[in-house]
Amino acid sequence: MTKARNGKKGRKTVKAAARKSAEKVFRLKSGKPAAKAAPSNGLPRPSSKPWGKAGRALEGVKILDFTHVQSGPTCTQLLAFMGADVIKVERPGIGDVTRMQLRDVKGADSLYFTMLNGSKRSITIDSKHRKGKEILERLVKKCDVLVENFAPGALDRMGLTWEHIHKLNPRMIVASVKGFGPGPYEDCKVYENVAQCAGGSASTTGFRDGPPLVTGAQIGDSGTGLHLCLGIVSALYQRVRTGRGQKVLCAMQDGVLNLARVKLRDQQRLKHGPLPEYSQYGEGVPFGKAVPRAGNDSGGGQPGWILKCKGWEQDPDSYVYFITQAPVWEAICHLIAKPHWKTDPDYATPPARLPRLRSIFDTIEQWTMTMTKFEVMEACNKFDIPCGPILSMKEIAEEPSLRETGTVVEVDHPTRGAYLTVGNPIKLSDSPADVRRSPLLGEHTDEILRDVLGYADREIAEIKTSGAVSAAEKKAAAA
Ligand code: COA
Repeated sequence: MTKARNGKKGRKTVKAAARKSAEKVFRLKSGKPAAKAAPSNGLPRPSSKPWGKAGRALEGVKILDFTHVQSGPTCTQLLAFMGADVIKVERPGIGDVTRMQLRDVKGADSLYFTMLNGSKRSITIDSKHRKGKEILERLVKKCDVLVENFAPGALDRMGLTWEHIHKLNPRMIVASVKGFGPGPYEDCKVYENVAQCAGGSASTTGFRDGPPLVTGAQIGDSGTGLHLCLGIVSALYQRVRTGRGQKVLCAMQDGVLNLARVKLRDQQRLKHGPLPEYSQYGEGVPFGKAVPRAGNDSGGGQPGWILKCKGWEQDPDSYVYFITQAPVWEAICHLIAKPHWKTDPDYATPPARLPRLRSIFDTIEQWTMTMTKFEVMEACNKFDIPCGPILSMKEIAEEPSLRETGTVVEVDHPTRGAYLTVGNPIKLSDSPADVRRSPLLGEHTDEILRDVLGYADREIAEIKTSGAVSAAEKKAAAA
């Protein structure tokens, strides 16, 4: 291939012969073969285009996006940010149910929908309509990945079984989010908080003397969408070698458990005694058989807690997370004006501090309450003391550095006007994120039928009157 491209066949042959004889001489002298040039592994030559100008990471990948609500859309939105062409299939006249959920602007798609479906195209198809099925099958043949998060069995009931899809397009990857993996609960419909509870997050979140708590971060939905994304990209990579697609399954229970991994760690540690970094240890409260809720204790080996800062009485977010990391203990003592704690045997070492963490944090809090959370952060950062201000969503929305990095992005929308969305949190140096507004329901139906599926204008007109892609015209046709 290189020869053909260079057109320097003769010179190359001479060079190759020279290299061979040099290798021979080297082998004779050292008994070892000469080091070979780095193998290309079949990869093209490194691009000479400027960074960010060599196309996007997933350019050329077509996603048949059959997702709805949050888990699946999180996954396909990330794929779209990475440059994949994501074709969202929605039910005519209705669309993804979140378009209408928690609406803040009358008549406009909700933020729930717009913030999970950016950079995608929308086509409406009635998957239970004869013609709709035909269009879907055509899409299956054209796309690389089908992503879905329907209730168990729904895709099969549409006639899109794995066997059928694989027959239509052996290269297609079929990626699914379900609530549970195979087992007693596999047929259950599952939403975010159900997964947080079933995955071990809720039982380990909250305060010991309170009920289990769910977290604000959507670890069940968005977390599983992230896991699915990795599965898809891995399957795409494997397909380069095998030429065939495969099924990718992420159960929300599994995704949450993966994120709550440190708590399964602690469950096993319990067999060997109490967990000294949990504040209940210092408080003399015995441990039960299962990992307890640990309030704001740090999940790692360095004790931490949330402390009040100046203005906490009025501002519910005037707090800081403070970690008493062992290597910076002397600096902490210095800052909080307790220099004698550096050498006092009751405080000088981490094991000595464990039984008195509560009173230590109370003392540190007397100091943090004299400053704002940002002043505390500044004072601590000088000494590498790990701490973090509790940022409100308002502060995050207004934070200029997050705008600059593209983590918070403002996009315009034809019916609701400008809105903020979370851009791609994964930054690739050669693939700038492609963050665009979400599509209107069926906005790209015509262009997908024509440009992706190759239907002629006459056929598109017939499809429209058939009711396969448009609920309104279905009624008109029936009248
Ligand atoms: N045309 C025609 N019918 C369509 C369609 C289309 N374009 N798109 C979807 N449908 C139909 C499905 O075929 C299904 O019909 P069926 O039950 O008669 O087979 C129906 O819409 C409903 O789908 P379903 O997934 O059951 O929606 P739901 O609103 O009842 O349940 C969930 C929602 C999220 C609970 C469920 O989809 C689920 O458990 N998903 C897996 C786990 C998950 O992702 N949960 C997190 C969501 S953030």
